Amino acid sequence: MKRSYFYLFAGIILLVSCNQNSSKIDLESYVEFQKKGTEISQIAQSTLLVNVGKAIQKGGPEHAVEFCNLQASSIVDSLNNANNCVISRVSIKNRNPENGLKDKQDKELWTLFQNNLLSDTLVHVKQKLVYYKPIKIGMPACLKCHGNPETEINSASSEKLKTLYPNDLAVGYKLNDFRGLWKIEFEIK
Ligand code: HEC
Repeated sequence: MKRSYFYLFAGIILLVSCNQNSSKIDLESYVEFQKKGTEISQIAQSTLLVNVGKAIQKGGPEHAVEFCNLQASSIVDSLNNANNCVISRVSIKNRNPENGLKDKQDKELWTLFQNNLLSDTLVHVKQKLVYYKPIKIGMPACLKCHGNPETEINSASSEKLKTLYPNDLAVGYKLNDFRGLWKIEFEIK
């Protein structure tokens, strides 16, 4: 806990001092948006988990393939609207071509998260505050679609994934691997 606070504040100081071109943001706003980011990512994450879990129970992983998708839930839309933000997930090994690392900042932060140098963090860029939080392969169920294609992903799911995502990179993960980042972009004035 102490360690993560250290990184949070070290991160804030670093980012405040690195962004001289941006309008100033006070510490209170940082703390407020950090909290918002945490809450929003938790709701989005648990919504996805519930949806994927239910779909697996109903028709197996091959039926659930469409449910690990932010568009599969209206909750994500309402969170975006209510908070004036855009929620996405990005990864260096992305399945959906839209979910790759987008810019230099994504790539730099990716390296820090990958080396466990950062817990969730908020970055101030121009008119935006961007919240990032790591996503882990947190449970064995993830492996039904992101695990070993020979032994963990069944053939019906594999077929479906190949059809929908011909350039899929998001396989071969193990339990607790770092899988991606929540990225929540808040527009600020
Ligand atoms: C039933 C299959 C299935 C299961 C189970 C599943 N996923 Fe996915 N996952 C997908 C699909 C399909 C996509 C692409 C969604 C899209 O088009 O945006 C995806 C995308 C993602 C992404 C976004 C980055 C990317 O590669 O496009 C993350 C992060 C992710 N999954 C994490 C997880 C985690 C963590 C778990 C376990 C809690 C999990 N997934 C379980 C099928 C699955």
